[in-house]
Order: sequence, then C-alpha cells, then structure tokens
Amino acid sequence: MLTFNQVHYYYKKGYPLIDNMSFTVQPGEFVAIIGPNGCGKSTLARLMNGLILPKEGRVRFKHLDTSIPADLAEIHKRVGLISQNPEDQFITTTVMDEVLFGMENIRVPREEMASRMQHVLRAVHMEEYMHAMPHELSGGQKQRIAIASILAMRPECIIFDEATSMLDPQGREEIKSMMHELHRQGMTVIHITHHMEEVLHVQRVLLIQDGRIEFDGDPLHFFENVSLENYQLKAPFAVRLHKKLGLKSSLMADWKEMIRSQWSSS
Ligand SMILES: Nc1ncnc2c1ncn2[C@@H]1O[C@H](COP(=O)(O)OP(=O)(O)O)[C@@H](O)[C@H]1O
Ligand SMILES: [Mg+2]
Repeated sequence: MLTFNQVHYYYKKGYPLIDNMSFTVQPGEFVAIIGPNGCGKSTLARLMNGLILPKEGRVRFKHLDTSIPADLAEIHKRVGLISQNPEDQFITTTVMDEVLFGMENIRVPREEMASRMQHVLRAVHMEEYMHAMPHELSGGQKQRIAIASILAMRPECIIFDEATSMLDPQGREEIKSMMHELHRQGMTVIHITHHMEEVLHVQRVLLIQDGRIEFDGDPLHFFENVSLENYQLKAPFAVRLHKKLGLKSSLMADWKEMIRSQWSSS
C-alpha cells in the first residue's frame, strides 16, 4: 500500500541520509520504525506523506505518487502525520476550530462537518472538550485532538512520529491505547519510537541505520537476534528478564505470561 522504491534523500548533496531504500507497508499493518538519533526517521515520515520528495526513486501510496504534484493533496488526506510536540499541533484556539480547520482544508462539505466532528471527538474520548482551549488540555489530550483532526480527514494510514515522547506516563498510555484501538479498527499505523516497550506490541519492526534498513521482521525475532547496544537502544523489560534468568521458554511480549509458561514447562 505504502511503497518506497529505491528512495534516495539528502539535505546536503554528497551526504545521503536515505540511501536506496525499498520497502512496502501493507494495509492494516502496525509497524514500528526505530533507529539511533538522527538516522532519518522523521525524514522518512515526511517522505511518506509527501511533505518532502525523494531525490531519486519513488514513494507511492496505492496508485498515488508523491512526485506527481496532482497526487499530493490526496496523499496528505490519506496519510496523516502526528508529530512529537503537542504544542506544535495546535494551529487554532479551540478544539472545535482545530478539527474544523483540517476539514476545511480538504473541503469537507459543510453539512457533513458536524457529524464528522462528533464522530472523531468521540473516537478519541474528547467529546466533552469541544469548546476547550489548548492551555486547558494535558499533553495527552492535545495529542488526542491532533489525532481527531487527522481522523476527520478519513485517512487510511497514520504515522506517529515520536508522538508519545514528550508526554507524561499517563499521556503516553492514552496515545498508545489510541494507536492500538485505531489499528484494531483497520487503520494502518506507523509508529516511530524510542520506547522499546512499545515495539514489543507491534506486528513489524523496521530498524534504520546509515540510511538503510538493517532489520525488517517481527519484534520477537528482532529482540532475539539484534544487538541493541549497537543502535543506542535499550532492551525492554521482558527481554532483559529473559536473558538474565536464562529462561528456556521462548521470549514473549508479556513478561508475566512468559514467566508463567516457564513455570508450567519446568
Ligand atoms: N530540514 C533539515 N535541513 C537540514 N538537515 C536536516 C533537516 N532535518 C533533519 N536534518 C538532519 O538530518 C538528519 C536526520 O534527521 P531526522 O530525520 O530528524 O532523524 P531522526 O528523526 O531519526 O532523529 C539529522 O542529522 C538532522 O540534523
Ligand atoms: Mg525524529
């Protein structure tokens, strides 16, 4: 569905950041993109929804191509991007205006706006906050409004670019459960993150380093086979526990389940 075909990108000529990268994200997938600081994750996110264009190669969303100007508006609509700082997401002064703003941009018919608004605010559990102002909201709530404004455009894919990293633990939980809820409803979710605990629960991991994909596979294989210290990444609790205790049972995302299975197999 979302396809990178031999994509090349640099900010400064001669210093390639994305180097001949190819991969495809399937409809309904939940993918984590990880890698050391500065490896180009946010750049990938911007390439994905056409905010920047490849220097060589193609980025396609279904039949649409980010290098074709006439396709761009449709790509922005179908591929939503939530970024790190909840403060940056707010453009207007109330929750209602914020959601309206996105819909006006893509010219949603007037008579449809109210029902879409209600629907998306309910989806992010913020229907009581329609008239609230940004400073009245927590970081997690601001991110949920950012998600609502994107949902109002009816995207098929949402990219979360370290969208949980500036939130307190409660805000992070809110956004994590939102992502899983959207995924259960059929949304394609791309989650760029530093938090390895979050990576355990996705379907597929893409590890980026030096402009290339170093690993592409499921999280359990990833944590079993990749030396995280080479990438400035810290193993999640379940993985450290598995190693430390030398468990015979296989690695599992849920560490309690893992311990239980060790118990029953010994
Ligand atoms: N607009 C820009 N102009 C020039 N260099 C940039 C720009 N955006 C990012 N970079 C550089 O590109 C590299 C990758 O950035 P980024 O994609 O933000 O990485 P990540 O999200 O993995 O931390 C960094 O070295 C960064 O300084
Ligand atoms: Mg980044």
